[in-house]
Amino acid sequence: MNSVIEEIFQTGQVLDRTGQPYPLHSNVDRQEGQFLFDLIAGDLEIQKTLEIGCAYGISSLHICSALAKQSHRQHWILDPFQHSQFHGIGVANLERSQFDFFQLIEEPSEFALPAIAKEQAGSFDLVFIDGWHTFDHTLLDLFYANRLVRVGGYIVVDDCGMAPVSKAVSYIANYPAFEIKAQSQRATSAMSRLKQVVKTVIPSAIAGYLLPRNLYDCYYVRTLYSSMVALQKVKEDDRNWNWFQSF
Ligand SMILES: C[S@@+](CC[C@H](N)C(=O)[O-])C[C@H]1O[C@@H](n2cnc3c(N)ncnc32)[C@H](O)[C@@H]1O
Repeated sequence: MNSVIEEIFQTGQVLDRTGQPYPLHSNVDRQEGQFLFDLIAGDLEIQKTLEIGCAYGISSLHICSALAKQSHRQHWILDPFQHSQFHGIGVANLERSQFDFFQLIEEPSEFALPAIAKEQAGSFDLVFIDGWHTFDHTLLDLFYANRLVRVGGYIVVDDCGMAPVSKAVSYIANYPAFEIKAQSQRATSAMSRLKQVVKTVIPSAIAGYLLPRNLYDCYYVRTLYSSMVALQKVKEDDRNWNWFQSF
């Protein structure tokens, strides 16, 4: 694995360009990073990726490490706060790793994505979503990610253990064009095993009818997925104008 990633996980801190240390936070963990890396490195057709939410660059480092051997590699990063809140450390870490095939667009995804989709629809192999985690924002990121990825490509979403993120993912997971391809390893606490059993016994479609809505949204929806989910676009999105499926 990339030596910058190793150093960051071992020390629990990141350095800005002057060497000033900051405590690591908000990042994907080792296991999620490995999940991203394995998915990308395991499919040689993944060359062009886009990431929403860079922070200190931990997911970016995993994505770029996995792309490093590809001949047509390019990684696009959207993060409006890379310098104002994260001291430019995410991109500094990529530069320290000698990655020269990324571009940072320092704008909110809600403004940058429509412009990119207009020019680059269907041209990305993978979009990674780890930005602003409200339901509406995640849904917006997913809407444009669907426009950006080609058939056969992936949308990977982090923090699916959070109710707003999980809820948005459970909507797009119903699209006929998408299948859940893989999920990062589930936590193995007794409580999480119990939740898995409950989910197996009462599938979400049934739970949605049986449980009061607040309970379903706050408890059940949050436990539908593990922390990171990879959805694969298996065909063109040809839903009718009035398509809807309960989620
Ligand atoms: C959870 S952190 C990302 C962590 C990062 N993926 C990692 O593994 O280190 C969320 C990031 O989303 C960014 N963000 C917040 N609002 C955003 C928006 N509207 N569009 C794009 N990114 C946004 C923040 O600046 C922050 O860097």
